[in-house]
Amino acid sequence: MLQARKASAEPTETQEPLREALARFDASGELLRIRGAHWKLEMGTLAEIVYRQERPPAILFEDIPGYPSGWRALSGATNSARRLAIVLGFPEPAHPLDVVRAYRDRMKTHKPIAPRVVKEGPVLQNVLKGDRIDVLKFPAPLLHEQDGGRYLGTDDLVIMRDPEENWVNCGTYRSMVHGPDRVGLWMSPGKHGRQIREKYFKQGKPCPVLISCGHDPLLFLAGGNEIRFGLSELDFAAGHRGAPYEVIESELYRLPLPAHAEIVLEGVMHPGETAPEGPFGEFTGYYAGGRSEQPVVRVERVYHRDDPILSIACPMVPPSDFSFSKCVMKAGMIWDEVERAGLSGVRGVWVHEVGCARMFNVIAIKQAYAGHAKQAALLAASCQSGSYLGRFVVVVDEDVDPTNLDEVIWAMCTRCDPAEDIDFIRRHWSGPLDPRLPRGVTWNSRAVIDACRPFDMLGEFPPVVQASGELRSKVAAKFADQLKRR
Ligand SMILES: Cc1cc2nc3c(=O)[nH]c(=O)nc-3n(C[C@H](O)[C@H](O)[C@H](O)COP(=O)(O)O)c2cc1C
Repeated sequence: MLQARKASAEPTETQEPLREALARFDASGELLRIRGAHWKLEMGTLAEIVYRQERPPAILFEDIPGYPSGWRALSGATNSARRLAIVLGFPEPAHPLDVVRAYRDRMKTHKPIAPRVVKEGPVLQNVLKGDRIDVLKFPAPLLHEQDGGRYLGTDDLVIMRDPEENWVNCGTYRSMVHGPDRVGLWMSPGKHGRQIREKYFKQGKPCPVLISCGHDPLLFLAGGNEIRFGLSELDFAAGHRGAPYEVIESELYRLPLPAHAEIVLEGVMHPGETAPEGPFGEFTGYYAGGRSEQPVVRVERVYHRDDPILSIACPMVPPSDFSFSKCVMKAGMIWDEVERAGLSGVRGVWVHEVGCARMFNVIAIKQAYAGHAKQAALLAASCQSGSYLGRFVVVVDEDVDPTNLDEVIWAMCTRCDPAEDIDFIRRHWSGPLDPRLPRGVTWNSRAVIDACRPFDMLGEFPPVVQASGELRSKVAAKFADQLKRR
Protein backbone atom coordinates (compact mmCIF):
# COMPACT_ATOMS: atom_id res chain seq x y z
CA MET A 1 0.00 0.00 0.00
CA LEU A 2 1.42 3.37 -0.99
CA GLN A 3 1.76 6.12 1.53
CA ALA A 4 0.78 9.63 0.49
CA ARG A 5 3.61 12.10 0.84
CA LYS A 6 2.96 14.33 3.80
CA ALA A 7 2.50 18.02 3.11
CA SER A 8 3.81 18.93 6.56
CA ALA A 9 7.33 18.67 7.87
CA GLU A 10 6.50 15.56 9.89
CA PRO A 11 9.01 12.81 9.28
CA THR A 12 8.12 10.12 6.78
CA GLU A 13 10.26 7.05 6.47
CA THR A 14 9.39 6.54 2.80
CA GLN A 15 12.72 5.74 1.21
CA GLU A 16 11.50 4.63 -2.22
CA PRO A 17 10.21 7.95 -3.52
CA LEU A 18 10.96 7.44 -7.22
CA ARG A 19 9.34 4.01 -7.47
CA GLU A 20 6.39 5.09 -5.30
CA ALA A 21 5.90 8.27 -7.33
CA LEU A 22 5.87 6.16 -10.50
CA ALA A 23 3.15 3.94 -9.12
CA ARG A 24 1.12 7.00 -8.13
CA PHE A 25 1.57 8.63 -11.55
CA ASP A 26 0.35 5.38 -13.09
CA ALA A 27 -2.68 5.23 -10.81
CA SER A 28 -3.64 8.81 -11.68
CA GLY A 29 -3.28 8.41 -15.44
CA GLU A 30 -0.08 10.46 -15.53
CA LEU A 31 2.19 7.78 -16.99
CA LEU A 32 2.61 6.63 -20.58
CA ARG A 33 4.51 3.37 -21.09
CA ILE A 34 6.34 3.09 -24.39
CA ARG A 35 7.95 -0.24 -25.30
CA GLY A 36 10.75 -0.82 -27.77
CA ALA A 37 12.04 2.77 -28.22
CA HIS A 38 15.73 2.80 -29.15
CA TRP A 39 18.22 5.00 -27.25
CA LYS A 40 19.40 6.30 -30.62
CA LEU A 41 17.10 9.26 -31.39
CA GLU A 42 13.82 7.42 -30.73
CA MET A 43 13.49 8.24 -27.01
CA GLY A 44 14.34 11.92 -27.66
CA THR A 45 11.96 12.21 -30.62
CA LEU A 46 9.16 10.50 -28.70
CA ALA A 47 9.66 12.98 -25.84
CA GLU A 48 9.31 15.79 -28.39
CA ILE A 49 6.13 14.26 -29.86
CA VAL A 50 4.52 13.66 -26.45
CA TYR A 51 5.48 17.07 -25.08
CA ARG A 52 3.76 18.79 -28.01
CA GLN A 53 0.45 17.29 -26.86
CA GLU A 54 -2.09 18.71 -24.41
CA ARG A 55 -1.52 17.59 -20.78
CA PRO A 56 1.47 15.37 -21.53
CA PRO A 57 2.15 12.45 -19.17
CA ALA A 58 5.50 11.21 -17.89
CA ILE A 59 6.99 8.61 -20.23
CA LEU A 60 8.39 5.31 -18.99
CA PHE A 61 10.51 3.66 -21.69
CA GLU A 62 10.43 -0.11 -21.28
CA ASP A 63 12.02 -2.98 -23.25
CA ILE A 64 14.74 -0.73 -24.61
CA PRO A 65 16.43 -2.60 -27.49
CA GLY A 66 19.85 -3.93 -26.49
CA TYR A 67 19.16 -3.64 -22.75
CA PRO A 68 17.87 -6.18 -20.24
CA SER A 69 14.11 -6.21 -19.86
CA GLY A 70 13.31 -4.48 -16.57
CA TRP A 71 15.84 -1.71 -17.22
CA ARG A 72 13.87 1.44 -17.90
CA ALA A 73 14.19 5.16 -18.61
CA LEU A 74 11.85 7.87 -17.33
CA SER A 75 11.17 11.30 -18.85
CA GLY A 76 9.04 14.12 -17.45
CA ALA A 77 8.60 12.85 -13.87
CA THR A 78 7.76 16.27 -12.42
CA ASN A 79 6.32 17.97 -15.46
CA SER A 80 2.63 18.56 -14.69
CA ALA A 81 0.82 20.34 -11.90
CA ARG A 82 -0.59 17.01 -10.70
CA ARG A 83 2.74 15.15 -10.77
CA LEU A 84 4.41 18.06 -9.03
CA ALA A 85 1.75 17.99 -6.35
CA ILE A 86 2.34 14.23 -5.91
CA VAL A 87 6.10 14.73 -5.65
CA LEU A 88 5.93 17.75 -3.35
CA GLY A 89 3.08 16.37 -1.23
CA PHE A 90 0.58 19.14 -2.05
CA PRO A 91 -3.19 18.87 -2.60
CA GLU A 92 -4.41 18.38 -6.16
CA PRO A 93 -4.13 21.83 -7.82
CA ALA A 94 -6.90 23.52 -9.83
CA HIS A 95 -4.58 26.21 -11.24
CA PRO A 96 -0.77 26.25 -11.69
CA LEU A 97 -0.54 29.09 -9.15
CA ASP A 98 -2.03 26.73 -6.52
CA VAL A 99 1.23 24.75 -6.59
CA VAL A 100 3.24 27.98 -6.40
CA ARG A 101 1.18 29.17 -3.43
CA ALA A 102 1.52 25.80 -1.70
CA TYR A 103 5.28 26.02 -2.24
CA ARG A 104 5.24 29.55 -0.75
CA ASP A 105 3.31 28.34 2.29
CA ARG A 106 5.70 25.43 2.73
CA MET A 107 8.69 27.75 2.62
CA LYS A 108 7.35 29.77 5.57
CA THR A 109 8.16 26.86 7.87
CA HIS A 110 10.64 24.93 5.74
CA LYS A 111 13.76 23.77 7.56
CA PRO A 112 16.63 21.95 5.84
CA ILE A 113 17.24 18.41 7.17
CA ALA A 114 20.72 16.88 7.01
CA PRO A 115 21.05 13.34 5.56
CA ARG A 116 21.22 10.24 7.76
CA VAL A 117 24.33 8.17 7.12
CA VAL A 118 23.63 4.43 6.75
CA LYS A 119 25.79 1.47 5.78
CA GLU A 120 23.54 -0.31 3.28
CA GLY A 121 21.06 0.53 0.58
CA PRO A 122 19.72 -0.75 -2.76
CA VAL A 123 22.23 1.39 -4.69
CA LEU A 124 24.89 -1.09 -3.52
CA GLN A 125 23.12 -4.06 -5.16
CA ASN A 126 25.75 -3.83 -7.92
CA VAL A 127 29.17 -2.23 -7.49
CA LEU A 128 31.36 -2.19 -10.60
CA LYS A 129 35.10 -1.59 -10.55
CA GLY A 130 38.04 -1.77 -12.96
CA ASP A 131 37.34 -3.51 -16.27
CA ARG A 132 33.69 -4.06 -15.36
CA ILE A 133 33.00 -0.34 -15.60
CA ASP A 134 31.04 0.59 -18.70
CA VAL A 135 28.70 3.55 -18.47
CA LEU A 136 26.99 2.42 -21.68
CA LYS A 137 25.72 -0.50 -19.70
CA PHE A 138 22.81 1.94 -19.22
CA PRO A 139 20.58 3.14 -22.07
CA ALA A 140 22.12 6.65 -22.29
CA PRO A 141 20.18 8.32 -25.09
CA LEU A 142 21.33 10.18 -28.17
CA LEU A 143 18.51 12.71 -27.86
CA HIS A 144 18.77 14.97 -30.92
CA GLU A 145 20.18 14.50 -34.42
CA GLN A 146 22.91 17.11 -34.00
CA ASP A 147 24.03 16.04 -30.52
CA GLY A 148 27.73 15.25 -30.31
CA GLY A 149 27.16 11.99 -28.43
CA ARG A 150 25.15 10.01 -25.94
CA TYR A 151 24.32 11.66 -22.61
CA LEU A 152 23.98 9.52 -19.49
CA GLY A 153 23.28 12.54 -17.28
CA THR A 154 20.53 14.88 -18.43
CA ASP A 155 18.23 14.73 -15.40
CA ASP A 156 21.11 13.95 -13.05
CA LEU A 157 22.43 15.10 -9.71
CA VAL A 158 26.12 15.97 -9.62
CA ILE A 159 27.27 15.77 -6.01
CA MET A 160 30.47 17.57 -4.92
CA ARG A 161 32.00 18.76 -1.65
CA ASP A 162 33.26 22.33 -1.32
CA PRO A 163 36.94 21.88 -0.38
CA GLU A 164 37.05 25.09 1.67
CA GLU A 165 33.65 25.20 3.36
CA ASN A 166 32.99 21.45 3.45
CA TRP A 167 29.31 21.61 2.41
CA VAL A 168 27.87 19.36 -0.30
CA ASN A 169 26.40 20.87 -3.47
CA CYS A 170 24.13 18.96 -5.84
CA GLY A 171 23.37 20.34 -9.29
CA THR A 172 21.94 19.08 -12.56
CA TYR A 173 24.72 19.36 -15.14
CA ARG A 174 24.72 17.36 -18.36
CA SER A 175 27.23 14.51 -18.68
CA MET A 176 28.30 13.22 -22.07
CA VAL A 177 29.69 9.75 -22.56
CA HIS A 178 33.29 9.81 -23.85
CA GLY A 179 34.09 6.13 -23.26
CA PRO A 180 33.33 3.19 -20.97
CA ASP A 181 34.90 4.96 -17.97
CA ARG A 182 34.93 8.59 -19.09
CA VAL A 183 32.18 11.23 -19.06
CA GLY A 184 32.38 14.99 -19.64
CA LEU A 185 30.56 17.52 -17.44
CA TRP A 186 29.30 20.85 -18.76
CA MET A 187 28.88 23.42 -15.99
CA SER A 188 28.10 27.03 -16.85
CA PRO A 189 30.25 29.82 -15.35
CA GLY A 190 28.91 30.82 -11.93
CA LYS A 191 27.14 27.54 -11.21
CA HIS A 192 27.99 26.24 -7.76
CA GLY A 193 29.47 23.01 -9.08
CA ARG A 194 31.72 25.03 -11.35
CA GLN A 195 32.80 27.30 -8.50
CA ILE A 196 33.62 24.23 -6.40
CA ARG A 197 35.55 22.54 -9.21
CA GLU A 198 37.57 25.73 -9.69
CA LYS A 199 38.50 25.73 -5.99
CA TYR A 200 40.02 22.24 -6.32
CA PHE A 201 41.79 23.06 -9.56
CA LYS A 202 43.23 26.32 -8.18
CA GLN A 203 44.76 24.26 -5.38
CA GLY A 204 46.13 21.88 -8.04
CA LYS A 205 43.94 19.07 -6.68
CA PRO A 206 41.64 16.60 -8.46
CA CYS A 207 37.93 17.20 -7.93
CA PRO A 208 35.90 14.18 -6.74
CA VAL A 209 32.32 13.82 -7.89
CA LEU A 210 29.27 11.55 -7.78
CA ILE A 211 26.79 11.60 -10.65
CA SER A 212 23.39 10.16 -9.75
CA CYS A 213 21.24 9.34 -12.78
CA GLY A 214 17.96 8.26 -11.20
CA HIS A 215 16.64 9.32 -7.80
CA ASP A 216 13.77 10.97 -5.93
CA PRO A 217 12.16 13.49 -8.32
CA LEU A 218 12.28 15.99 -5.43
CA LEU A 219 16.07 15.89 -5.68
CA PHE A 220 15.77 16.71 -9.36
CA LEU A 221 13.62 19.74 -8.49
CA ALA A 222 16.27 20.87 -6.02
CA GLY A 223 19.27 20.04 -8.23
CA GLY A 224 17.94 21.76 -11.33
CA ASN A 225 17.07 25.08 -9.68
CA GLU A 226 19.20 27.78 -8.09
CA ILE A 227 19.22 27.18 -4.34
CA ARG A 228 21.45 29.57 -2.39
CA PHE A 229 25.20 28.91 -2.21
CA GLY A 230 26.09 26.98 0.93
CA LEU A 231 22.74 25.17 1.30
CA SER A 232 22.94 21.52 0.24
CA GLU A 233 20.17 20.43 -2.11
CA LEU A 234 20.03 17.14 -0.13
CA ASP A 235 19.06 19.11 2.99
CA PHE A 236 16.72 21.44 1.07
CA ALA A 237 14.83 18.57 -0.58
CA ALA A 238 14.69 16.63 2.71
CA GLY A 239 13.05 19.69 4.28
CA HIS A 240 10.30 19.33 1.66
CA ARG A 241 9.79 15.61 2.19
CA GLY A 242 9.92 16.04 5.95
CA ALA A 243 12.54 13.34 6.53
CA PRO A 244 16.27 12.96 5.98
CA TYR A 245 17.67 11.20 2.94
CA GLU A 246 19.60 8.05 3.72
CA VAL A 247 23.09 8.30 2.30
CA ILE A 248 26.06 5.93 2.24
CA GLU A 249 29.60 7.28 2.30
CA SER A 250 30.99 6.51 -1.14
CA GLU A 251 33.84 4.05 -1.19
CA LEU A 252 36.53 6.25 -2.71
CA TYR A 253 35.86 9.90 -1.87
CA ARG A 254 33.40 9.68 1.02
CA LEU A 255 30.76 11.66 -0.78
CA PRO A 256 27.09 11.09 0.17
CA LEU A 257 25.68 8.40 -2.09
CA PRO A 258 21.84 8.50 -2.00
CA ALA A 259 21.12 5.00 -0.68
CA HIS A 260 18.00 4.57 -2.86
CA ALA A 261 19.40 6.07 -6.05
CA GLU A 262 19.17 3.99 -9.20
CA ILE A 263 22.56 4.56 -10.86
CA VAL A 264 25.52 6.52 -9.46
CA LEU A 265 28.97 7.08 -10.97
CA GLU A 266 31.90 7.93 -8.71
CA GLY A 267 34.98 9.53 -10.15
CA VAL A 268 37.33 12.41 -10.29
CA MET A 269 38.20 15.32 -12.58
CA HIS A 270 41.90 16.14 -12.93
CA PRO A 271 43.08 19.70 -13.56
CA GLY A 272 43.87 20.21 -17.26
CA GLU A 273 42.30 16.93 -18.43
CA THR A 274 39.62 17.84 -20.96
CA ALA A 275 37.83 16.45 -24.01
CA PRO A 276 35.53 17.97 -26.63
CA GLU A 277 32.00 18.17 -25.21
CA GLY A 278 28.74 18.89 -27.11
CA PRO A 279 27.02 20.05 -29.10
CA PHE A 280 23.82 19.27 -27.24
CA GLY A 281 20.26 20.40 -27.99
CA GLU A 282 19.60 22.92 -25.23
CA PHE A 283 16.65 24.23 -23.22
CA THR A 284 16.47 27.47 -25.23
CA GLY A 285 15.72 25.40 -28.34
CA TYR A 286 19.17 25.93 -29.91
CA TYR A 287 22.62 24.38 -30.04
CA ALA A 288 24.24 27.61 -28.78
CA GLY A 289 26.97 26.08 -26.59
CA GLY A 290 28.41 24.18 -29.55
CA ARG A 291 31.44 21.97 -28.96
CA SER A 292 34.08 22.99 -26.43
CA GLU A 293 36.85 21.48 -24.30
CA GLN A 294 35.40 20.50 -20.91
CA PRO A 295 36.79 18.60 -17.92
CA VAL A 296 36.52 14.84 -18.00
CA VAL A 297 35.40 12.62 -15.12
CA ARG A 298 37.42 9.41 -14.80
CA VAL A 299 34.79 6.96 -13.57
CA GLU A 300 36.24 4.66 -10.90
CA ARG A 301 33.09 3.07 -9.49
CA VAL A 302 29.57 2.45 -10.78
CA TYR A 303 26.87 1.70 -8.24
CA HIS A 304 23.46 0.58 -9.43
CA ARG A 305 20.29 -1.13 -8.34
CA ASP A 306 18.90 -4.24 -9.93
CA ASP A 307 16.59 -3.20 -12.78
CA PRO A 308 17.65 0.45 -12.63
CA ILE A 309 15.54 3.35 -13.88
CA LEU A 310 17.54 6.00 -15.74
CA SER A 311 15.92 9.41 -15.54
CA ILE A 312 16.20 11.61 -18.60
CA ALA A 313 15.38 15.21 -19.47
CA CYS A 314 15.10 16.14 -23.11
CA PRO A 315 15.69 19.85 -23.79
CA MET A 316 13.98 21.27 -26.91
CA VAL A 317 12.10 24.32 -28.16
CA PRO A 318 9.77 24.79 -25.17
CA PRO A 319 7.67 23.21 -23.85
CA SER A 320 9.90 20.28 -22.95
CA ASP A 321 9.65 17.34 -20.56
CA PHE A 322 10.92 19.47 -17.65
CA SER A 323 10.04 23.11 -18.51
CA PHE A 324 6.70 23.25 -16.67
CA SER A 325 8.26 21.98 -13.45
CA LYS A 326 10.95 24.64 -13.71
CA CYS A 327 8.30 27.34 -14.19
CA VAL A 328 6.50 26.32 -11.01
CA MET A 329 9.67 25.94 -8.94
CA LYS A 330 11.17 29.17 -10.21
CA ALA A 331 7.95 31.09 -9.63
CA GLY A 332 7.80 29.80 -6.04
CA MET A 333 11.46 30.49 -5.43
CA ILE A 334 11.39 34.03 -6.89
CA TRP A 335 8.27 34.84 -4.86
CA ASP A 336 9.97 33.53 -1.74
CA GLU A 337 13.21 35.41 -2.37
CA VAL A 338 11.69 38.80 -3.19
CA GLU A 339 9.56 38.61 -0.04
CA ARG A 340 12.57 37.64 2.03
CA ALA A 341 14.28 40.71 0.58
CA GLY A 342 11.44 42.76 2.09
CA LEU A 343 9.06 43.27 -0.85
CA SER A 344 5.40 43.61 0.14
CA GLY A 345 2.20 43.25 -1.86
CA VAL A 346 3.17 40.31 -4.10
CA ARG A 347 0.02 38.68 -5.47
CA GLY A 348 1.55 36.19 -7.89
CA VAL A 349 4.68 35.23 -9.79
CA TRP A 350 4.87 33.20 -12.96
CA VAL A 351 7.74 32.07 -15.14
CA HIS A 352 6.56 31.31 -18.67
CA GLU A 353 7.47 28.11 -20.51
CA VAL A 354 7.64 29.96 -23.80
CA GLY A 355 10.49 31.98 -22.27
CA CYS A 356 12.40 28.72 -21.77
CA ALA A 357 11.42 28.80 -18.07
CA ARG A 358 13.90 31.63 -17.44
CA MET A 359 13.57 34.47 -19.92
CA PHE A 360 10.03 35.86 -19.52
CA ASN A 361 9.06 36.21 -15.87
CA VAL A 362 6.04 38.09 -14.52
CA ILE A 363 5.36 39.39 -11.04
CA ALA A 364 1.94 40.75 -10.00
CA ILE A 365 1.72 43.24 -7.13
CA LYS A 366 -0.77 45.44 -5.34
CA GLN A 367 0.97 48.80 -5.65
CA ALA A 368 1.28 50.60 -2.34
CA TYR A 369 3.79 53.40 -3.05
CA ALA A 370 5.62 55.16 -5.86
CA GLY A 371 8.58 53.02 -6.96
CA HIS A 372 7.03 49.77 -5.69
CA ALA A 373 6.76 48.28 -9.19
CA LYS A 374 10.37 49.07 -10.11
CA GLN A 375 11.58 47.58 -6.82
CA ALA A 376 9.62 44.39 -7.59
CA ALA A 377 11.08 44.22 -11.09
CA LEU A 378 14.68 44.69 -10.01
CA LEU A 379 14.41 42.16 -7.19
CA ALA A 380 12.75 39.57 -9.44
CA ALA A 381 15.45 40.10 -12.08
CA SER A 382 18.36 39.82 -9.66
CA CYS A 383 17.48 37.30 -6.95
CA GLN A 384 19.39 34.00 -7.08
CA SER A 385 16.61 32.02 -8.76
CA GLY A 386 15.66 34.74 -11.25
CA SER A 387 19.08 35.90 -12.29
CA TYR A 388 20.83 33.32 -14.51
CA LEU A 389 20.08 33.68 -18.22
CA GLY A 390 17.08 35.97 -17.74
CA ARG A 391 15.83 38.41 -20.36
CA PHE A 392 12.49 40.09 -19.60
CA VAL A 393 10.77 40.78 -16.27
CA VAL A 394 7.28 42.25 -16.39
CA VAL A 395 5.49 43.73 -13.37
CA VAL A 396 1.70 43.82 -13.55
CA ASP A 397 -1.08 45.00 -11.27
CA GLU A 398 -3.00 42.56 -9.13
CA ASP A 399 -5.97 42.46 -11.53
CA VAL A 400 -3.77 40.78 -14.16
CA ASP A 401 -3.19 37.02 -13.96
CA PRO A 402 0.59 36.59 -14.35
CA THR A 403 0.12 33.09 -15.81
CA ASN A 404 -2.11 34.39 -18.61
CA LEU A 405 0.03 35.65 -21.51
CA ASP A 406 -2.92 37.43 -23.16
CA GLU A 407 -3.58 39.43 -20.02
CA VAL A 408 0.12 40.18 -19.50
CA ILE A 409 0.63 41.41 -23.07
CA TRP A 410 -2.60 43.44 -22.83
CA ALA A 411 -1.24 45.14 -19.69
CA MET A 412 2.10 45.81 -21.44
CA CYS A 413 0.30 47.34 -24.41
CA THR A 414 -2.07 49.51 -22.40
CA ARG A 415 -0.32 50.45 -19.13
CA CYS A 416 3.32 50.74 -20.16
CA ASP A 417 4.88 53.64 -22.02
CA PRO A 418 8.04 52.07 -23.46
CA ALA A 419 10.28 55.15 -23.13
CA GLU A 420 9.13 55.77 -19.54
CA ASP A 421 8.55 52.30 -18.20
CA ILE A 422 11.18 49.98 -19.64
CA ASP A 423 14.65 50.01 -18.09
CA PHE A 424 17.73 48.00 -18.98
CA ILE A 425 20.15 46.28 -16.65
CA ARG A 426 23.45 45.57 -18.34
CA ARG A 427 26.10 42.91 -17.76
CA HIS A 428 23.83 40.51 -15.90
CA TRP A 429 24.60 36.79 -15.23
CA SER A 430 24.11 34.75 -18.38
CA GLY A 431 26.15 32.00 -20.02
CA PRO A 432 27.32 30.30 -23.20
CA LEU A 433 23.86 28.79 -23.80
CA ASP A 434 22.37 32.23 -24.48
CA PRO A 435 21.84 32.01 -28.26
CA ARG A 436 21.91 35.82 -28.64
CA LEU A 437 25.42 36.25 -27.19
CA PRO A 438 28.63 36.26 -29.19
CA ARG A 439 30.99 33.36 -28.32
CA GLY A 440 32.96 33.93 -25.15
CA VAL A 441 30.55 36.50 -23.65
CA THR A 442 28.68 35.23 -20.61
CA TRP A 443 26.69 38.28 -19.52
CA ASN A 444 23.64 39.86 -21.11
CA SER A 445 21.18 42.71 -20.56
CA ARG A 446 17.68 42.60 -19.06
CA ALA A 447 14.58 44.59 -19.85
CA VAL A 448 12.50 45.29 -16.77
CA ILE A 449 9.05 46.30 -17.89
CA ASP A 450 6.69 48.18 -15.62
CA ALA A 451 3.28 47.25 -17.02
CA CYS A 452 1.39 48.54 -13.99
CA ARG A 453 -0.85 51.59 -14.09
CA PRO A 454 1.53 54.48 -13.25
CA PHE A 455 1.33 55.07 -9.50
CA ASP A 456 0.70 58.80 -9.93
CA MET A 457 -2.21 58.06 -12.30
CA LEU A 458 -3.91 55.41 -10.18
CA GLY A 459 -6.84 57.68 -9.29
CA GLU A 460 -7.47 58.78 -12.86
CA PHE A 461 -6.55 55.69 -14.90
CA PRO A 462 -9.46 54.75 -17.20
CA PRO A 463 -11.64 51.96 -15.82
CA VAL A 464 -11.45 48.51 -17.38
CA VAL A 465 -14.34 47.48 -19.62
CA GLN A 466 -15.54 44.33 -17.94
CA ALA A 467 -18.80 43.08 -16.46
CA SER A 468 -18.68 42.97 -12.66
CA GLY A 469 -18.41 39.50 -11.14
CA GLU A 470 -21.93 39.74 -9.77
CA LEU A 471 -23.47 40.77 -13.11
CA ARG A 472 -21.55 38.12 -15.00
CA SER A 473 -22.69 35.30 -12.67
CA LYS A 474 -26.31 36.49 -12.77
CA VAL A 475 -26.41 36.67 -16.57
CA ALA A 476 -24.48 33.44 -17.00
CA ALA A 477 -26.93 31.65 -14.70
CA LYS A 478 -29.95 33.08 -16.53
CA PHE A 479 -28.69 31.95 -19.94
CA ALA A 480 -26.93 28.79 -18.80
CA ASP A 481 -28.97 26.48 -21.07
CA GLN A 482 -28.34 28.52 -24.18
CA LEU A 483 -24.66 29.02 -23.36
CA LYS A 484 -24.07 25.28 -23.19
CA ARG A 485 -21.75 24.19 -25.98
CA ARG A 486 -23.40 22.04 -28.62
C1 LIG B 1 17.17 19.31 -17.05
C2 LIG B 1 18.19 20.32 -16.66
C3 LIG B 1 19.45 20.27 -17.24
C4 LIG B 1 20.42 21.20 -16.88
N1 LIG B 1 21.66 21.12 -17.44
C5 LIG B 1 22.63 21.98 -17.06
C6 LIG B 1 23.95 21.86 -17.55
O1 LIG B 1 24.27 20.98 -18.35
N2 LIG B 1 24.89 22.74 -17.12
C7 LIG B 1 24.58 23.76 -16.25
O2 LIG B 1 25.46 24.54 -15.88
N3 LIG B 1 23.32 23.91 -15.75
C8 LIG B 1 22.36 23.04 -16.13
N4 LIG B 1 21.09 23.16 -15.64
C9 LIG B 1 20.77 24.24 -14.71
C10 LIG B 1 21.30 23.92 -13.33
O3 LIG B 1 20.96 22.62 -12.96
C11 LIG B 1 20.76 24.89 -12.31
O4 LIG B 1 21.21 26.17 -12.65
C12 LIG B 1 21.16 24.54 -10.89
O5 LIG B 1 20.76 25.58 -10.06
C13 LIG B 1 22.65 24.32 -10.77
O6 LIG B 1 22.98 23.99 -9.46
P1 LIG B 1 23.75 25.04 -8.54
O7 LIG B 1 22.74 26.15 -8.24
O8 LIG B 1 24.09 24.27 -7.34
O9 LIG B 1 24.88 25.53 -9.33
C14 LIG B 1 20.12 22.22 -15.95
C15 LIG B 1 18.85 22.25 -15.35
C16 LIG B 1 17.90 21.31 -15.71
C17 LIG B 1 16.56 21.35 -15.04
